[in-house]
Amino acid sequence: MRAVTIERFGDPSGLAVTELPAPVPGPGQVVVETEAIGVGGVDAVIRRGTLGGFGFTTGTIPGSEVAGTVTAAGVGVDASWVGRRVWMFTGTSGGYVEQAIARVDDVVALPGELSSIDAVTLGSSAVVAHFALAHAHFAAGESVLVRGAAGSIGIATVELAARGGASAVAVTTSSAERGQRLRELGATHVLDRSGGGDASTPAAYDVIIDVVAGPDTPAFVDRLAANGRLVLVGVVAGMPPANFGARLLGAFQQSRSVATFSLDTVPAGPRNGARTDIFAAAARGELHAVVHDVLSLDDAADAHRQMDDGTVFGRIVLVP
Ligand SMILES: NC(=O)c1ccc[n+]([C@@H]2O[C@H](COP(=O)([O-])OP(=O)(O)OC[C@H]3O[C@@H](n4cnc5c(N)ncnc54)[C@H](OP(=O)(O)O)[C@@H]3O)[C@@H](O)[C@H]2O)c1
Repeated sequence: MRAVTIERFGDPSGLAVTELPAPVPGPGQVVVETEAIGVGGVDAVIRRGTLGGFGFTTGTIPGSEVAGTVTAAGVGVDASWVGRRVWMFTGTSGGYVEQAIARVDDVVALPGELSSIDAVTLGSSAVVAHFALAHAHFAAGESVLVRGAAGSIGIATVELAARGGASAVAVTTSSAERGQRLRELGATHVLDRSGGGDASTPAAYDVIIDVVAGPDTPAFVDRLAANGRLVLVGVVAGMPPANFGARLLGAFQQSRSVATFSLDTVPAGPRNGARTDIFAAAARGELHAVVHDVLSLDDAADAHRQMDDGTVFGRIVLVP
């Protein structure tokens, strides 16, 4: 089968299309013939080599989510999975392939009305958004700021917060054109990356979902209302400064909170349950998969170039 591997860490030209033997499922595993493969921000981080110390070696296949049809099931797997259209999490690697393998615990059946392309656009990102809002104890009537809203996690957070009855959904983004697209998905206020640019925005937010982090994190802690909660979901701009907690202590009487959230802490049952609900909502047209581009598996390097250039709004999807 064709697969994309990291032959050299660094720029996208280190990605290569290779022929590899088709996988054979072990106990508890299934093989999926892929129809669509999501290109995630973390794939680019791994390819750049900055996570080299976490055990990624040359030959690593990037990609963590695919959709397609189950073609084989290992020992202990219900045989009725074979032939079903599914979404599958392959782990932190293993997605950019014609035949993907993973544990059946990481497989969710797809509704017939949902395309595989839409499934890999929402399958991770909207689930992260859902649990991040839950981690922030978001409730209807509260104001929300989504920092880094133009990525697939941010877009899903905007839609879920708006549908969940937020009193305001502010976003940070780098262009007016992106701001307009985010308004169409439910944003009520569009801010620049520093949080300025709209005088009518709420002075303080009950919930901030932050995909960006980096040096500006303390300034956003200052934007929390009394009892406000900021949840760090990603570190697109790097780690926050080590002393950012000083802002929390400096506003002690505001009872603010800052938390991190990783989907890794959500058990498979609730994770797959939320994913099934999200796919059903998308099939009903209540949630939107924002697909930036659909490219061939052979063009994976081009997909990564667009990711590195920061031109992606939503998700790039590869098709084999
Ligand atoms: N917590 C979890 O369980 C979980 C799961 C999966 C992934 N993640 C993490 O989520 C992140 C990727 O999410 P994503 O794909 O939605 O994001 P993304 O597309 O990589 O970035 C989101 C947006 O942030 C803005 N941005 C980029 N650099 C910035 C900077 N220096 N300062 C301010 N804004 C900047 C860009 O929009 P504008 O140009 O419009 O500003 C970009 O579209 C990664 O950190 C990944 O590790 C977390």
